[in-house]
Amino acid sequence: MADLSTDLAGAVLPNPLMTASGCAANGRELHRFLDVAGLGAFVTKSVMRGPRSGRGTPRMAETPSGMLNSIGLQGPGIDAFVEDDLPWLASVGARALVSIAGSDAEEFAEVARRLRDSEAFSAVVGVEVNISCPNVANRGLVFACQPDSSAAVLTLVREQLPGVPLFAKLSPDVTDLVLIAEACLAAGADGLTMVNTLLGMAIDLDRMRPHLGGVTGGLSGPAIRPVAVRAIWQVHGAMLTGRLRPAPIIGVGGVHSGRDALELVAAGASAVQVGTATFHDPTSPARVLRELETLLDERGLDLAGAVGLAHERTA
Ligand code: DOR
Repeated sequence: MADLSTDLAGAVLPNPLMTASGCAANGRELHRFLDVAGLGAFVTKSVMRGPRSGRGTPRMAETPSGMLNSIGLQGPGIDAFVEDDLPWLASVGARALVSIAGSDAEEFAEVARRLRDSEAFSAVVGVEVNISCPNVANRGLVFACQPDSSAAVLTLVREQLPGVPLFAKLSPDVTDLVLIAEACLAAGADGLTMVNTLLGMAIDLDRMRPHLGGVTGGLSGPAIRPVAVRAIWQVHGAMLTGRLRPAPIIGVGGVHSGRDALELVAAGASAVQVGTATFHDPTSPARVLRELETLLDERGLDLAGAVGLAHERTA
């Protein structure tokens, strides 16, 4: 049987399968269908300082190539999260990878500090720093589009969370992803999550207006898998050539099957998140894990041996 364990900068997980942030809220609903403690980690919805209602409706649109969302970081805020959601995740034995967000670097730092000071912090295996939300006008993407603003956030969060594995979540909407990855790693990120949704939009032709209340949204699902594979490939490749220091990559983008997951792993991901697929089938992370295990067994590989393997076969 393949060894599926993965070491993400000190966060040692029994398997590489995770939820993708935002796709299963903070776990309660999903837990009715899937034991969230069986996941490598449960990734929470990005939490900010205060409660937020998010963007105007409609906030979701299905397209033939994937799903558009324009949620705008709706959430209960860090106080409710640490009083209610995190203790619940701890009570069911889940390993929490907590996604945090902010409108500026100071807000990220404050959220990180309150998280660190919370009673259920022992359930936290790492923190995903969401610097790439496409749905907050003039803000979300700004961080992950520029090395300086990415680094400013990571530096402050790092100060608040010494010793805690930190993953910067990157946007596919940038011209030089390796440059952003470099800035995040230099500023204290231990690893990278790639990729957030791709900025898109849809027009409702009956009403002749944008479908989403927020006009634009983030595209997820099958259409972005090749984008995720490319992003992971580029950044892992830069690690192999020494341009970047080696760091674990968490892959995310359009994973529906074990084959999809293995594709991200072969490009360089040490863990894989499942997001949009859970809307059709909430048990899909468990199915993807079983399928991935079978594929690794068939190839006589452990997970660690498959990470980035496709780079070795490139002329
Ligand atoms: O597609 C996304 N939607 N990515 C994020 O980072 C946040 C989320 C939202 O709340 O809009």
